[in-house]
Amino acid sequence: MNLAYRLATVTAVSRALEWPAIRRLRMTRRAALRALRLTPMARVVRRLRRMGVPLHEFDVLELFGRDGTGHVQDYAKFVGSLEVWEIDREWRPKLECNIPGARIKITDSFQEVRTTPTTYDLLVVDAPLAVTGTYCEHFDLFPHLFRICRERSVLILNVIPSATSGDLKWWPNVFSPAHLARRREFYGSITPEQIALPEMARRYARLADENGFDCDWHFFQQRPGIMVYFVCHLTRRPGSPDDPPEDRATRGSAADVSGSERV
Ligand SMILES: C[S@@+](CC[C@H](N)C(=O)[O-])C[C@H]1O[C@@H](n2cnc3c(N)ncnc32)[C@H](O)[C@@H]1O
Repeated sequence: MNLAYRLATVTAVSRALEWPAIRRLRMTRRAALRALRLTPMARVVRRLRRMGVPLHEFDVLELFGRDGTGHVQDYAKFVGSLEVWEIDREWRPKLECNIPGARIKITDSFQEVRTTPTTYDLLVVDAPLAVTGTYCEHFDLFPHLFRICRERSVLILNVIPSATSGDLKWWPNVFSPAHLARRREFYGSITPEQIALPEMARRYARLADENGFDCDWHFFQQRPGIMVYFVCHLTRRPGSPDDPPEDRATRGSAADVSGSERV
């Protein structure tokens, strides 16, 4: 047996032993963080509530549900109502168990967002991280996401500003040539593997503007590894195409929140 073959065997065996242990450790850590309300989504919820955002009155949509343990459980009990979309029906029983009281819809979110008549106060977008079929990250939800926003809505997007080579071992599908090409196009960036947070914020604000919304404030919250939440508040501009007259008549003053950046 040559040395290279022996090394490869040792590496494969140690990986096989190591992965379940690492996964168990990560699950224990996540459970502890959740119990202490220190997960990134718990931080987002706390910050929004401190800013006076009335989450308890909000109709919320989670567009990519899986089993809800990723972050839905961290905010579900603080919102008025919750609808969860998920393409894979195998997750339904776990979703029903983990997020009791939520309306669950098994559907393709990229299609559903184009047709649903319902609008929401908070949209949470935790799409797969790279290219899946013809879709890439959350890019194909735009501009349709705006049609399911209300006069004022909060949008939470999972974004990937950059990734180290170490990160890419954990997320091997991230930053494939096809993924980078879609990022280059969506963000209009010549460095799609590294996009500064202000540049991302400007991109989403421009998209909002093109669709009749103002992005009043935003903030970012780091998640584990390569993921970051982009949280922003959208207000429909008076007279924009989807602004129904009755909504215009009843619109109050803009939400008064502070402590965040304006784009
Ligand atoms: C990152 S996970 C979501 C984790 C979840 N937010 C949580 O808190 O546990 C992404 C999920 O999106 C689902 N998904 C992928 N493509 C989809 C599509 N086109 N429509 C709806 N769900 C989709 C996957 O099945 C997967 O469960």
